Amino acid sequence: MTLIEYKNFYYRYKGNEEYALNNINLKIEDNKFILLCGETGSGKTTLIRCMNGLIPQFYSGFYRGSVEISGKDTTITPIADLSTEVGIVFQNPENQLVAMNVEHEIAFGLENLGIESVEISKKIKEVTKITEIEHLLDKAPFELSGGEQQRVAIASILVLEPKIIVLDEPTALLDPYMAKKIIELLKEIQIEKQITILISEHRLDLVLPFANEIILMKDGNLIEHDNSDKIINGTNFHTLRLNKPVIYSIFNQLKEEKLFNQYIPTSISKVINYLKGL
Ligand SMILES: Nc1ncnc2c1ncn2[C@@H]1O[C@H](COP(=O)(O)OP(=O)(O)O)[C@@H](O)[C@H]1O
Ligand SMILES: [Mg+2]
Repeated sequence: MTLIEYKNFYYRYKGNEEYALNNINLKIEDNKFILLCGETGSGKTTLIRCMNGLIPQFYSGFYRGSVEISGKDTTITPIADLSTEVGIVFQNPENQLVAMNVEHEIAFGLENLGIESVEISKKIKEVTKITEIEHLLDKAPFELSGGEQQRVAIASILVLEPKIIVLDEPTALLDPYMAKKIIELLKEIQIEKQITILISEHRLDLVLPFANEIILMKDGNLIEHDNSDKIINGTNFHTLRLNKPVIYSIFNQLKEEKLFNQYIPTSISKVINYLKGL
């Protein structure tokens, strides 16, 4: 089922001469774990801002074409209505956390929807368990570490039960250990809830093993969107200036030395399967 669809979509920020998005055609389907990657300035954040109507409704600029969320046109549907379909965690989660404590933060969206307090408590219990923040409910957002804030931001979105959760560079402020934990947590949530999770991320090592699909952006163009195996074995991925995963670099080198002639594996378990088959 298609959840988000861009049709011949162009976008230019007011005051800029260049288009930040050029003729985007993209379908985001349900129940997928999708990696969005591209060099800095390639348009990833701009693409994400279109996923809940912030572009074109909040940012001033010029657009052509259309973006639909579950069939709703993002130019005219209120952002509040689109936010229940797509939950977005932007960079710097502390800017997104507004309540005096974590419990209120998570309850905020549900209260706005007019949900009963018994039901709210039940839902808070469930999402705080999944995100492992039960012990933080009384804390103020500013008392939390970056990783904890990130998990609170994810819990506040998850509680609204959107069909898609989008995260813009969620590990940028985290240490490597916490970054890995957050990505693993997101994969668990994706499998358990059968929702779609789309992540813009530079740490490809972390996300690639879990990703079903990859979207590649370059200079405002969506240059490729396919399953992960296909993308990382293609020339676009090879030539983009990205922080390539270690496994990719090793097997790519082996390929160049003619010691390997198959699809480059995307995870350690796939490498092990390959070695077992030798
Ligand atoms: N709020 C904004 N106003 C004007 N230009 C912007 C704004 N946000 C991004 N841009 C421009 O749009 C282009 C794409 O940026 P962005 O979507 O942030 O890329 P990425 O997330 O891949 O680094 C860049 O040229 C950037 O300078
Ligand atoms: Mg960005």
